Amino acid sequence: MKQVSIALLALAAAGTANAQAQPWGQCGGSGWTGPTSCVSGWTCQYSNEWYSQCVQSSGGTTAGTTAATTKTTTTKTSSTKTTKSTTTKTTKTSVPATPPTNVPASAGSTSYPTPVLVSAGQVFDGKMLKYDRNPSSCQGQKETDEAAAMFIVESGGTVKNVIIGPDQGEGIHCRGPCRLENVWWISVCEDAATFKQTSGDSYVVGGGAFGASDKIFQFNGRGTVHISGFYAKDYGKVSRSCGDCTNNGGPRHFVIENVTAVDGGPLCGVNTNYGDTCRISNSCQNKGKDCDRYQGVVKGNGSSKKLGTGPDGVSCFVSGLTTNCS
Ligand SMILES: *[C@@H]1O[C@H](CO)[C@@H](O)[C@H](O)[C@H]1NC(C)=O
Ligand SMILES: *[C@@H]1O[C@H](CO)[C@@H](O)[C@H](O)[C@H]1NC(C)=O
Repeated sequence: MKQVSIALLALAAAGTANAQAQPWGQCGGSGWTGPTSCVSGWTCQYSNEWYSQCVQSSGGTTAGTTAATTKTTTTKTSSTKTTKSTTTKTTKTSVPATPPTNVPASAGSTSYPTPVLVSAGQVFDGKMLKYDRNPSSCQGQKETDEAAAMFIVESGGTVKNVIIGPDQGEGIHCRGPCRLENVWWISVCEDAATFKQTSGDSYVVGGGAFGASDKIFQFNGRGTVHISGFYAKDYGKVSRSCGDCTNNGGPRHFVIENVTAVDGGPLCGVNTNYGDTCRISNSCQNKGKDCDRYQGVVKGNGSSKKLGTGPDGVSCFVSGLTTNCS
């Protein structure tokens, strides 16, 4: 009798899933109403109460699969709330004019062997858990790629209320326009986030980053990245256009507002030869470092050269920057 009811529940769960989750996609977790099985060659693996993910079957364990199935089956009946949203941006978040200067308390921690994929238009709410990779994918300043990231965000995706720990290499990779809201990096590895959108607008709203030996935000695409209400401490640069701009063209635009940055370099570094711009307003950098201008290069044509510093009315625009960041 018991076996029959489990089979029925499993069948019911399978019946509601109208598609199979993609590689690295979510396939279960508390409140998850999406697909609970994976495309051929991939296995749904339980990570924690909130998240199960499709991993390559060769690497997956059957124990993990069983756990994931049980979990999603039981939560399905009790939960009606969905973490997946079809709207990209519905609510306006009010950003504090002065960002908090410490990482908020975490609600617990979790780790993943691979990047967490946030699908197009999905709002991923980390509920203030600390996220790490296990084993760690941080290799210092060695150039890694999105495989070393904690989150890979498809076009229109949002990551919010997340604390990113030190054991990941590339933080967040946005493949298209994305929104990073109240995201905190305890210790940045290679960089905190990389924007690869070919056009459009991405937003960093609130949050903060600590201990970035080089840059925090890397912009390798085109369009505009808006950074507001953000806090940075012990870093190289808050944001930087591609150094190697092969296939990236330009222009790229940074809009930096209500940002506080201490013990580090400029708020932005842009390539004048690609028409990049940086607009800084109502912000603080405790040494007054604002905007560096560079000559961006393509592969095989030397390395990016610094041309100057400060507002020039063409690439760098600065208004309301103070040095009193208390
Ligand atoms: C920056 O802070 C001011 C308040 O000082 C607020 O009116 C404005 O909306 C903020 N800008 C952004 C982009 O959050
Ligand atoms: C390569 O560098 C030279 C000298 O700085 C520059 O004139 C030329 O435009 C660059 N070529 C490309 C494709 O960026």
